Amino acid sequence: MKLKKIGIIGCGAIGTQIAKYIQKHLKGRAKVIGVCDIDIKKAIELSKKIKPKPIITGIDNLIKKSDLIIEAASTEVSGEIAEKADFLKKDALIMSTGGLLKKQRFVEKINAGYSHIYIPSGAICGLDGLKSAMTGAVKSVTITTRKPLKGLAGSPYLKEKNIDIEKIDKETLLYSGTARDAIRYFPQNINVAVTLSICGLGAGRTNVKIFTSPEYTKNTHEIEVEGEFGRFWTKTENVPSEANPKTSKLAIFSAIAKLKEMLQLKN
Ligand SMILES: NC(=O)c1ccc[n+]([C@@H]2O[C@H](COP(=O)([O-])OP(=O)(O)OC[C@H]3O[C@@H](n4cnc5c(N)ncnc54)[C@H](O)[C@@H]3O)[C@@H](O)[C@H]2O)c1
Repeated sequence: MKLKKIGIIGCGAIGTQIAKYIQKHLKGRAKVIGVCDIDIKKAIELSKKIKPKPIITGIDNLIKKSDLIIEAASTEVSGEIAEKADFLKKDALIMSTGGLLKKQRFVEKINAGYSHIYIPSGAICGLDGLKSAMTGAVKSVTITTRKPLKGLAGSPYLKEKNIDIEKIDKETLLYSGTARDAIRYFPQNINVAVTLSICGLGAGRTNVKIFTSPEYTKNTHEIEVEGEFGRFWTKTENVPSEANPKTSKLAIFSAIAKLKEMLQLKN
């Protein structure tokens, strides 16, 4: 197979780990040829860790120059990146799945299986079961997320509702609503609910509950699906990434697993 030229957009926790993995484990199959970040220091920092040094460039040029794009930036730009990559028939792995909701027609295209967009499972289990369940009638899909206080700090929801996260001293249900609203309020925390909604009933019909507590140390996700098939529950107790407590290690591993699938590597 031809060496895949990879472009990474977003040089934070996920982008950096994936770049390092490619360098260490995917030699001869893939190579990071370029990186891009709104924060130039992050792009320089990552480019220095990779040999040969990738170029630092803008989104459009990186998409043009790469065979495969990894988006690990933000919901602000992920929809646009997905659309541009798909238009140029370049494969793109999208982490900030929330941004795809701005392109509803595009979500339908992804679901129909004729786009160049790939979505990793993130820090949850059960998408395989949900996809199977969708063959019949599905009554409800609910994700209950528990995150430590620092994993939710800075989210627009806290600002809008005037909540001082530092003052929360016991287990608290912060949010209950749809995935569509949840991603608006917690754009850096709940992409996984959007991923679930894309595979299932859609963002308006996927229920999300977010709890926090000073006692929590892990990012826990419980999924419950009910339908014609019966009912299933899954639970993941995720260790947060050292580089970004909002992101679980399993989410990073799921991106690497999906990348290997895209490169047609079995393990
Ligand atoms: N799908 C999932 O299950 C899942 C799980 C975890 C994280 N995520 C999402 O993946 C993305 C990356 O996560 P992370 O932990 O690496 O975050 P991070 O904050 O560690 O890194 C993000 C990087 O992207 C850069 N960036 C932000 N906006 C940008 C833009 N417009 N153009 C270029 N670069 C930009 C930032 O400067 C930062 O360096 C986030 O959107 C996060 O919410 C998704």
